[in-house]
Amino acid sequence: MPGLKIHLLFCVLLARGGSPTEGPEKRWLVDNMKSMRYVCPRGGSVSVITSQLSNKTKERVWDFACKASFRGFINCSWTDYVNSVDESINFSCPPESLISGVENLRVPPHKDRRWKFYCCEKWSVCYTKCNWTQYINESNEYFSWQVPEGFYLVGAIRYHDNVVNKRRWQYRYCAMFPVALTDY
Ligand SMILES: *[C@@H]1O[C@H](CO)[C@@H](O)[C@H](O)[C@H]1NC(C)=O
Ligand SMILES: *[C@@H]1O[C@H](CO)[C@@H](O)[C@H](O)[C@H]1NC(C)=O
Ligand SMILES: *[C@@H]1O[C@H](CO)[C@@H](O)[C@H](O)[C@H]1NC(C)=O
Ligand SMILES: *[C@@H]1O[C@H](CO)[C@@H](O)[C@H](O)[C@H]1NC(C)=O
Ligand SMILES: *[C@@H]1O[C@H](CO)[C@@H](O)[C@H](O)[C@H]1NC(C)=O
Repeated sequence: MPGLKIHLLFCVLLARGGSPTEGPEKRWLVDNMKSMRYVCPRGGSVSVITSQLSNKTKERVWDFACKASFRGFINCSWTDYVNSVDESINFSCPPESLISGVENLRVPPHKDRRWKFYCCEKWSVCYTKCNWTQYINESNEYFSWQVPEGFYLVGAIRYHDNVVNKRRWQYRYCAMFPVALTDY
C-alpha cells in the first residue's frame, strides 16, 4: 500500500485538540427497530457513546454525538458487517482512519445484532498514541463514554458471551497529527 506509506510521511510530532464535543441527544436509536444507522455530519467523528437497556425490548438502545474532526476533502467508506450474530467484535478502522458512523441490523430469531462501521480518513492526517479503554461497563449497565479531549474514535471491542447473553464494550482512540481541522 504505497498510499499508506506516503500518508505516514506526513505525520508530524505536534498535537492539538479538537473542538468541543456536543452532548448526545438521547434519541435512543434501536428501540423497536430492526436496524439502526447513525452517521456524523460531514467532517465529524463519533465522540460520545451512550447506551442503556431498553425496558421494552431488553436490548441495548444507543445514542451518539460527534465532534468536528476533519475539514476539506475526506475519503469515507462503510465496512461490511464485522460480526456474525452472537459473535464477539474486535474492530478497528483501516490505519489512519476513524469512526464516523455505525449501523446495525437485528437478525431474528437471534437476539443479537450485526454491526458495520463508517470509516473516514484525510490523506494528510495520521494517528498516534492509540489506546484501548477498559470495559466501559458491566453487561446490562447504563454507560455514557466520551472520547478523551484531543483523541478520536478508531475502534470497538464487543465481548460476547452467548451462554449468559452478556455483552460488554471497549473502545479504541487515537490522537491526530497534524490537527485536521485546518485545510491542507
Ligand atoms: C427503564 O426503566 C427505568 C426505571 O423506570 C428508567 O429509569 C429507564 O430510563 C428506562 N429505560 C429506558 C431505555 O427507557
Ligand atoms: C480511501 O480510498 C482508497 C482508494 O480509493 C480506499 O482503498 C480506502 O479504503 C479509502 N479509505 C476509507 C477510509 O474509505
Ligand atoms: C483485538 O485485535 C487487535 C489487533 O488485531 C489485537 O492486538 C488485540 O489483542 C485484540 N483484542 C482482543 C480482546 O481480542
Ligand atoms: C491506556 O488506557 C488505560 C486504560 O484502559 C490506562 O490505564 C493507560 O494509562 C492508558 N495509557 C496511555 C498511554 O494513555
Ligand atoms: C457504569 O455504571 C455505573 C453504575 O451504573 C455508573 O456509575 C458509571 O457512571 C457507568 N460508567 C460509564 C462510563 O458510564
